[in-house]
Amino acid sequence: MKILVLGSGGREHALAWKIAASPLVEKLWCAPGNAGIARDAECVPIDIADHAAVIDFCKRNAVDFVVVGPDAAIAAGVVDDLNAAGFKAFGPTRAAGRLESSKNFTKALCRANNIPTAAYEHFTDAEQAKAYIRKQGAPIVVKADGLAAGKGVVVAMTEAEALAAVDMMFGGAFGASGAEVVVEEFMQGEEASFFALCDGEHALELATAQDHKRAFDGDEGPNTGGMGAYSPAPVMTEAMCARVMDEMIRPTLRALKAMGTPYKGVIFAGIMVTKDGPKLVEYNARFGDPECQVLMLRMMSDIVPALLACADGQLKNFNLRWFDDAALTVIMATKGYPGDYGRGSVIGGLDEAAKVEGVEIFHAGTAAKDGRIVANGGRVLNVCALGRNVTEAQARAYQAVDRINWPEGFCRRDIGWQAVAREKAKA
Ligand code: AMP
Ligand code: GLY
Repeated sequence: MKILVLGSGGREHALAWKIAASPLVEKLWCAPGNAGIARDAECVPIDIADHAAVIDFCKRNAVDFVVVGPDAAIAAGVVDDLNAAGFKAFGPTRAAGRLESSKNFTKALCRANNIPTAAYEHFTDAEQAKAYIRKQGAPIVVKADGLAAGKGVVVAMTEAEALAAVDMMFGGAFGASGAEVVVEEFMQGEEASFFALCDGEHALELATAQDHKRAFDGDEGPNTGGMGAYSPAPVMTEAMCARVMDEMIRPTLRALKAMGTPYKGVIFAGIMVTKDGPKLVEYNARFGDPECQVLMLRMMSDIVPALLACADGQLKNFNLRWFDDAALTVIMATKGYPGDYGRGSVIGGLDEAAKVEGVEIFHAGTAAKDGRIVANGGRVLNVCALGRNVTEAQARAYQAVDRINWPEGFCRRDIGWQAVAREKAKA
């Protein structure tokens, strides 16, 4: 079968790598892809925001199936447009994708279906939001309603911070995304990412992971798209995962189906494990980046039939097999990220790094230039490794990192610290 992957990050490299391993694949493209994806798929320079161009490519090449990576493409309705043109795609429609693109939509859905999440109120007026904050007190969380590139959330430890966040959001810091805000209860606990495939009606649990959002060691510095991840998340025990499926994922699918907007694709639930059990922080309508990278390494089964089953409504009785190993990924980013950074610095040592046992390197912001790999973005490389446990996966990943010669890059040196500490305590 002929498959097209949309996207150009580490998530899409991991997906393309896993899809390319399927015996069902006769031809694989990725639009627009990157220098690493080019090893697993033919990269085509299409602007994926131009849905007519994507559809035209599918027609000319008789594409059988399109796998959509990024949230922006989901929110822009690329799946709706592909379906309307007669193409099968993996990912939710724009309406179902509101689980990610509108925090208020999701909060209302949770409230109506008793899905455990932080108590909240929704405001279109700054003064009312502030009055609510004064009444509730700090700590409290202020969120812009729409997509804000992961920067629309202020976890305010003081009332003053929360009031300032309201002013910033209504002041237009996020454009239309800030015209509505959600103010919610601060939840205390350990965070984890939970993934399930959905076919509109049924859900298949995938696996869990933990991300590292802050730029620097010790969870210091600004928030980023994610500086590393590992899977599984030890806090997500079997019992905890069963609760997430029963208390969140299944009721969410039932509610969306009843609304006439069934959810097909991967659901990514951000979970806070509180003393009262798992609570939903947020939903995303796509794989996490970098969580996808560690999930793909751990997945033993062919992924293609599973992705197709989502689109075809055939997930019931579907099963996937997983390696028992843990997987961990270290993100190498260009110095300056998540602020301003340069482009074009040369990266060496990748082949030597990839020889470390259990290691797989996925590319995010890279390009090929004169036969060399150069940095072409903020998050640039995902150095991933499998191991018997997180401690071993971490050691292997950093051994590979140390073979990479890229003075303009940096990474955190403590990815996986929570799991490594747990493993040490057990030993
Ligand atoms: P979100 O974009 O909704 O995932 O929020 C970004 C981050 O803010 C989350 O990963 C949490 O670390 C934190 N966060 C969001 N909502 C809450 C909450 N209600 N209580 C505590 N932390 C939160
Ligand atoms: N790693 C978090 C995300 O993809 O949103």
